[in-house]
Amino acid sequence: MRIAVAGGTGRIGRLVVAELEREGHEAVSLSRSEGVDLLTGVGLRQRLEGADAVIDTTNPPVADIAEAEHAFATITRNLLTAETEAGVGHHVALSIAALDAVAGNDHYYGKRAQEREVVTGAVPFTIVRATQFHDFPAMIAEWTVVDGEAIVPPLLMQPIAPVDVAAVLVATAVEAPRSSSFDVAGAADGGRRRHGAADPRRSRPGAPAARRLARCRARRRVRRRGAHPRGGNPPGADVLRRLARRRSAVTDGT
Ligand SMILES: NC(=O)c1ccc[n+]([C@@H]2O[C@H](COP(=O)([O-])OP(=O)(O)OC[C@H]3O[C@@H](n4cnc5c(N)ncnc54)[C@H](OP(=O)(O)O)[C@@H]3O)[C@@H](O)[C@H]2O)c1
Repeated sequence: MRIAVAGGTGRIGRLVVAELEREGHEAVSLSRSEGVDLLTGVGLRQRLEGADAVIDTTNPPVADIAEAEHAFATITRNLLTAETEAGVGHHVALSIAALDAVAGNDHYYGKRAQEREVVTGAVPFTIVRATQFHDFPAMIAEWTVVDGEAIVPPLLMQPIAPVDVAAVLVATAVEAPRSSSFDVAGAADGGRRRHGAADPRRSRPGAPAARRLARCRARRRVRRRGAHPRGGNPPGADVLRRLARRRSAVTDGT
C-alpha cells in the first residue's frame, strides 16, 4: 500500500516510515523540511496522489491555546480536504490517551480540536490514543530545569515505547477504518510508574515551566487499566498479536 505520513520526519513519524518500509509498503513523508506545509496546504495535494491511507503524526509548534487549536484544526482540515480530492480511504490520527481528562494544557486543546475535525470530517478514520512515550518524563524534566533542579508533576503514567506506537499506527492504517478511537498503552506490569515525587505547586517562584505544569490538572490518572480490548470494535487481531509480543495493552477508547 502507499501510505502518507504527516510529520514523517518527527520522533514518531520517522518510526512509522521505517515500520511501513519494513512491512513492504510505500511511505510518503509530509513535512515542511520536505516541501509540504500542512498549515497552508502548499505541496500537499500532489504528494497524496495514489495514497491509500494517511497517518497523521504532526506536532506543530504552538505558543498558547488559541494557536494550538488553530494549528491542529487547520492541519487536519487541510489533510482531509486533500485526502478527499485524492480519494484516500483511511485517515489515522495519533492522539493521546485520557485526552479529555487533562485541563490547562495548550497541547491538549489542540489535540481535542484535531479529534473534532477528524470525527466530523468526510474521510473514514481511526483515532489511536497513545499514552505518554517512554521519554516523556525526561522531556518534562528538561522543561523545568532551574538552577540544575528539575521538577516533574506527580502523574501516574503507563508509558509506551515509541516503536510500539509506530507498529500500531501502521497495523491500523492497513485495516479498515473504525470510525472510532482506541487506546494503546505500555506494559502494565512494571510499566505503571510514579513519575515525579516533587509537587510543582511547591516549586520555587519564578520557574515559568513549573508554574505552567501546576496549572495542568489531570482529573484522573493518565493511564489505562486492563490488558485486553473491552467492548465492541476492538483493535484487529494483527495489532493485538503484535502488542502481545511487546507486552503492551490496548483498550477501546470509550
Ligand atoms: N510525547 C508523547 O508522550 C505523546 C503521547 C501520545 C501522543 N503524542 C502525539 O504524537 C504526535 C507526534 O509527536 P512527536 O513528538 O513525534 O512530534 P515531533 O517530533 O515534534 O515531530 C513533528 C512533525 O510534524 C511536522 N510538522 C510540524 N508542523 C508542520 C507543518 N506546518 N507542516 C508539515 N509538517 C509539520 C514536523 O516536520 P517539520 O518541522 O519539518 O515540518 C515533524 O515531522 C503529537 O501530535 C503528539 O500529540 C505524543
